[in-house]
Amino acid sequence: MYDINPIQKKRIDEKLNTINKYRPLPSSQVAKLQEKFRIEMTYNSNGIEGNSLTLKETFLVISEGLTIKGKPLKDHLEAKDHFEALQYLGDLIEHNKKHTVSEILIRQLHQIVMQETGREWAGKYRNANVIISGSDHTPPEAFEVPKLMRNLVKWISDNQNKLHLIALSSIVHHKLVSIHPFFDGNGRTARIVMNIFLMQAGYPLVTILKNDRRKYYNVLDKADKGDYDPLIRFIAQNVERSLNIYLQIITPKSQNKEKFFKLSEIALKTPFSAKYLNLLARQGKLEAFKKGRDWLTSKKAIDDYLINRQRKR
Ligand SMILES: Nc1ncnc2c1ncn2[C@@H]1O[C@H](COP(=O)(O)OP(=O)(O)OP(=O)(O)O)[C@@H](O)[C@H]1O
Ligand SMILES: [Mg+2]
Repeated sequence: MYDINPIQKKRIDEKLNTINKYRPLPSSQVAKLQEKFRIEMTYNSNGIEGNSLTLKETFLVISEGLTIKGKPLKDHLEAKDHFEALQYLGDLIEHNKKHTVSEILIRQLHQIVMQETGREWAGKYRNANVIISGSDHTPPEAFEVPKLMRNLVKWISDNQNKLHLIALSSIVHHKLVSIHPFFDGNGRTARIVMNIFLMQAGYPLVTILKNDRRKYYNVLDKADKGDYDPLIRFIAQNVERSLNIYLQIITPKSQNKEKFFKLSEIALKTPFSAKYLNLLARQGKLEAFKKGRDWLTSKKAIDDYLINRQRKR
């Protein structure tokens, strides 16, 4: 059975509990946070796909309605559409936490994501075969898509209460991109669909960073071969990253916030080398999250790791 690693699970549960303790948050704060997470996800998810807008530009296009000189119109439209899909989904789940994941919902989300830049096929399954550039995986023949999508939805309802939510959303993500039901926009749609389960359980939006594109393709490739652990670990790391950001913002200033350091800085104060800490971080054994190309961690995370390690021995 697929599951997330118990150390990661414990940390994630604790963080979600802490966030829940602060609820209900002031509605204006929630609105601000939502906007921030939606813009960041839009920037990263479209960026993975080759959209050229920076994070700042994505913000200006979405929140200020500006046009960025020298940037393609398509990139503007994609940003707005992606943001709208997240808004749509956010509202839907706010009104009905248990909203089931159906083919209709997946196609609606795809429809919004592609409404301006791929209108002809927005919300519609493909009718011809496709390849995924940059990957060895060959998606199934077009005629199989409807059946495979039905199976996927059935798989979700059969497994929703059996698997840890993060394992479930990781696997759904992979199944969806493997089927590749649409001509284009599969990655973007799958990254949104994965978030349905997480949002329902009260997690902030989880983003796959543009900087992690290689890693992301790598873990999907392993999942193609039946090895789901790297994908689940990767998604769990990103869940944790979102929880950290959320916590940093909602924790009152007066409380002692954890300070995060680059591994090379903090290694000097530990028995480990920066390289070893990097390995622990990638394996999910040490709490850490990525900012740009660097992993950041805290003194508390190192202490927790040391204690956990001793317990195991
Ligand atoms: N080995 C793989 N197995 C299954 N799916 C994969 C694999 N490698 C990449 N993918 C998925 O295929 C997506 C690309 O498909 P497509 O171009 O239809 O989506 P997109 O949303 O337009 O692009 P992008 O993912 O680049 O944003 C990737 O985002 C990823 O989710
Ligand atoms: Mg594409």
